[in-house]
Amino acid sequence: MKKLFAVLLALAMLTPLLSAAALAATDVGIVLPTKDEPRWLQDQARFETVIADTDYSVEVLFSQGSSATERTNVETLIAKGVKVLIICAQDAGAAALTVELAKEEGITVISYDRLITDTEAVDYYVTFDSVAVGEAMGQYLLDNAEGVGNSLYLYAGAATDNNAFLFFEGAWNILQPKIADGTFVIRNSSEAIALQDQPKLTRDQQAAIIGQITTDWDFNVAKSKAEAHLTAVGADEKGLCYILAPNDGTARSIADVFSSDADVNGYYVTGQDAEIASVQYVIDGLQSMTVFKDTRTLAQDAMDMAITVMEGSIPATDAAYNNTVVDVPAKQTPVVVVTKDNVVSVLIDTGYYAVSQFTGIK
Ligand code: GAL
Repeated sequence: MKKLFAVLLALAMLTPLLSAAALAATDVGIVLPTKDEPRWLQDQARFETVIADTDYSVEVLFSQGSSATERTNVETLIAKGVKVLIICAQDAGAAALTVELAKEEGITVISYDRLITDTEAVDYYVTFDSVAVGEAMGQYLLDNAEGVGNSLYLYAGAATDNNAFLFFEGAWNILQPKIADGTFVIRNSSEAIALQDQPKLTRDQQAAIIGQITTDWDFNVAKSKAEAHLTAVGADEKGLCYILAPNDGTARSIADVFSSDADVNGYYVTGQDAEIASVQYVIDGLQSMTVFKDTRTLAQDAMDMAITVMEGSIPATDAAYNNTVVDVPAKQTPVVVVTKDNVVSVLIDTGYYAVSQFTGIK
């Protein structure tokens, strides 16, 4: 009896501590799309560095490719009393309802890297210049093309990601006039061929093309599409190939497919994110370029914005992006093209990566 009383007493004393821990307040909640793409692990690492320097409490959660998990993550953060939510959505449209929950609680919502569409509940957008990313890719392919009739293979990101449209728009800005004048010939998209004389595409037209050439940001989808495309064309449509690949993971898998085809005797392939594996591919001459998006800047900008909001001020912005409902004030960061020639100066000398993470750097 005495023992039971002692246990009950101990529990009674612990209860306030337990409930205090359960309610531990968080100032800033960060939700990232998935741990399965190296890009978002880079962002996580950069956030952790930035967080270490602030007095505010911050929590990072991953949605693992699921809009349902994303919603649960946001609900968890709302319950913890966050004042600012920084969120990179898994699916731009599906996230609209989720951030509306946060907005109803008076939380400031910052769309991180990917714009959440179809809602008023987005206060700010922190992003890279995504149209410039696509333009850099298109320009790279163009700079390496000579004469006419060069075989062009187009790939895009996931149609649920607004950035996939912006990247494609940028690439189209540069490539379309050069498709129209015969420098490039599209080999893998009937939708793009049907629209090739049109300098500006509507969202629906972009969607029609992206629907055909999407990789879903997935290496395996990219691989099987590339295999199917090369199977469908004759040897005369291969030779030296120009490939618009939307990011590094898909660039590596598409490059592997092209390099193992006997009728492909060379290729230029674009990429984006400067993932470690792709930087190695660039050093080894297997991927031609990557667009470096300095996640240190993006994470810092997002946290600075959150802190400014918590201090009661209005953050500085330098652009606006329409999300189909409102123009969202944005803070935009430029991007840098990385090739074999500037890997060291851009990625190593700036401390983004260590030389020991790669082989073959002299
Ligand atoms: C985009 C992002 C890119 C890329 C891609 C794949 O939204 O801006 O940097 O990594 O997603 O997840």
